[in-house]
Amino acid sequence: MIPYLDLHTINAPYEADIKQALLDVVDSGWYLFGQQVSAFEQEWADYNGARHCVACANGLDALRLVLRAWIEMGYLKRGDGVIVPANTYIASILAVSDNGLVPIPVEPDPDSYLIDPRTIAQLLEDPKSSPAYPVAKDVTIRAILPVHLYGQRCEMEVIDELAARYHLLVLQDSAQSHGIKAKGTCAWSFYPGKNLGALGDAGAVTTDDEELATVIRQLAFYGSERKYVHHFKGVNSRMDELQAAVLRIKLRDLDRANARRVAIAGRIAQEVSNPSLVLPKAKANHVYHIYPVLTAHRDALQRYLLDQGIQTQIHYPLAPHQQKAYNEWQALHFPITEKIAAQELSIPCNQSMTDDDVSKVIAALNAWII
Ligand SMILES: Cc1ncc(COP(=O)(O)O)c(C=O)c1O
Repeated sequence: MIPYLDLHTINAPYEADIKQALLDVVDSGWYLFGQQVSAFEQEWADYNGARHCVACANGLDALRLVLRAWIEMGYLKRGDGVIVPANTYIASILAVSDNGLVPIPVEPDPDSYLIDPRTIAQLLEDPKSSPAYPVAKDVTIRAILPVHLYGQRCEMEVIDELAARYHLLVLQDSAQSHGIKAKGTCAWSFYPGKNLGALGDAGAVTTDDEELATVIRQLAFYGSERKYVHHFKGVNSRMDELQAAVLRIKLRDLDRANARRVAIAGRIAQEVSNPSLVLPKAKANHVYHIYPVLTAHRDALQRYLLDQGIQTQIHYPLAPHQQKAYNEWQALHFPITEKIAAQELSIPCNQSMTDDDVSKVIAALNAWII
């Protein structure tokens, strides 16, 4: 069986170093707010070319904390609108709702599946013509939340230009895109299956904005500037020393692991020629957290691949506007998003695969007949 993602094999090259680092943390007797987290924050900021990094408990918290900080700083107020991609993992959108802000979904680009600057511009310039108008009509839009979905970098130059023109904040959901080195304020998840994954939950924010970093750090520590002095009604969201120690070890190898993913994706793009399958259009800045294949016969393809000994996953079978959690969006229609939700199948594409595994996946995709 070729597993979709075998975390044991992915982590095997680091096993000895990880075990030693975990033992060192245990021996140190220091489990939170220690050297490992500080060092990881510095190393992750440096890796991304960001001035600040604040570690936190998970990716959803990272997104939530940035939005909450902007509320505390007076840049956002409850009820303001945040433009989000209609096709994302629901966490991107939950972070907005959870802060009392209004997520406004827009369609992705049909080729890249990334939030489309053209649908953002349509919403800003001619709101009535946007499918999101019923949600946006009484709302002041103050921010854009692009998601580097599947590991591919959004068109940030165009998005940043639109944001500057309309005085909007930009928060990048980078949960799936470790390694693309986007500038600006980014929220990260280090969920175990991510390209840089911990052995449990962990998250972080990177930013060049010193005040934002300071407010996030306080919000994540009960709103406290220092022990027992509370400026905000904060939360508890922190990365522990054990996770930071693991991430520091794996970070040293992130570029190599991503390069292997890119090489596998390159082979698939070059060697799969089945006209029934839509492969992602190659873009330079992509770390292939997910390799999505689209077909109108998704379930049949999934069954067939399983019969061939190849495990797959679906990201994501229902779009947020099709979920009960967002039943206020029931009347909205996003044809591109709905098509992706109905047709996407994620095939294995990661550094634990051998060349032989990749050849088997390619051969199976080429041999598939509807
Ligand atoms: C796009 C996206 N945003 C946010 C998250 C949330 O991250 P976490 O699971 O660490 O809370 C995830 C992953 O789970 C994700 O894929």
